[in-house]
Amino acid sequence: MSTYKEVKKITTHIVQEMKLRGEKISMLTAYDYSMARIFDDAKIDILLVGDSASNVMHGYETTLPITLDHMIAHAASVIRAVKRALVVVDLPFGSYQGNSKEALNSAIRIMKEAEAHAIKLEGGEEVVESIKRILTAGIPVMGHLGLTPQSIYKFGTYEVRAKEEEEATKLMHDARLLEEAGCFAIVLEKIPSSLATRVAQSVKIPIIGIGAGSGVDGQVLVSHDMLGINKEFSPKFLRRYLSLYDEIKDAVERYVSDVKSVDFPNEKEQY
Ligand code: KIV
Repeated sequence: MSTYKEVKKITTHIVQEMKLRGEKISMLTAYDYSMARIFDDAKIDILLVGDSASNVMHGYETTLPITLDHMIAHAASVIRAVKRALVVVDLPFGSYQGNSKEALNSAIRIMKEAEAHAIKLEGGEEVVESIKRILTAGIPVMGHLGLTPQSIYKFGTYEVRAKEEEEATKLMHDARLLEEAGCFAIVLEKIPSSLATRVAQSVKIPIIGIGAGSGVDGQVLVSHDMLGINKEFSPKFLRRYLSLYDEIKDAVERYVSDVKSVDFPNEKEQY
C-alpha cells in the first residue's frame, strides 16, 4: 500500500505526519539558487543548507570555518528558489555554542535575513538549553547526533560513531532529550543501523539518517556527493546517481577544444 500523499508545501508538521503514516522523508543539501530550483522541482521534501557548504562550496577541509554570514547568503539564495520544500539551515560552528542567547540571536538572523523555515544544530544534552530558548521564539529546530562534524577535532576521525555501549546509551538518551525539548526531527549521522532503528522506534519525531541504515524515517545525502561532483569522497553509505565531475570536465574540454579550433561559434551562433 502506498504511503505517499501529494503535498503542495512541506512543513514541520507534514514531516511528522509522514513518519506517522510510514512515508519516508527525502532530504538533500542545497547551497544555491539554481540547484535548489531543480531539487524542489524534483519534489525533494527537505532541503538542508548544510554547513557542509564549508567543504563543497568553499573548499575548506572541515565545516568549522564557514561563518554565519556565509550560511545566510547560501540560505537566502536557496529560499528564493523553493516553492515546495521545507528549508532547514545549519547553525555554523561558533554561532551557538557560547550560550543560549547567542544561539537564539544566530537562529533569529537566519530566519529574518534568509527567511528560512527552520534551523539545525549539532549536539545533545550540551545544547538542550539553547534549543529550548530558540523554540521560545517560534523557530523550529532539527537536532543532529552521532557523527557531528563540528566536533571533528574532539573525535579525531570521521569513523562510525556509537559502536560501543556507552556512546550508544548516551545517543539514545540525547535523542529522547531533544524530542522532549521540542525538536521536530533529528539527523543521525554515521552510526550502526541497528542503533539508528532503535532510536527511530523510541521517539515520535522523524529520524533522518545519513549512513544510519534503512530503519529510520528518512534519508539525507550531501548533494555534491550523490551527484558525483566530488570524486574523492566515497564512504560505504554513499550512492552516486551521476558522475558530474567527469561529465562537466568532458563538456568543458570539448568547449575549450571548440574555441581553440574556431569551431565555436559557428555561423548559426552569431549575429
Ligand atoms: O552539513 C551537512 O551537510 C549535514 C548533513 C551531513 C546532514 O549536516
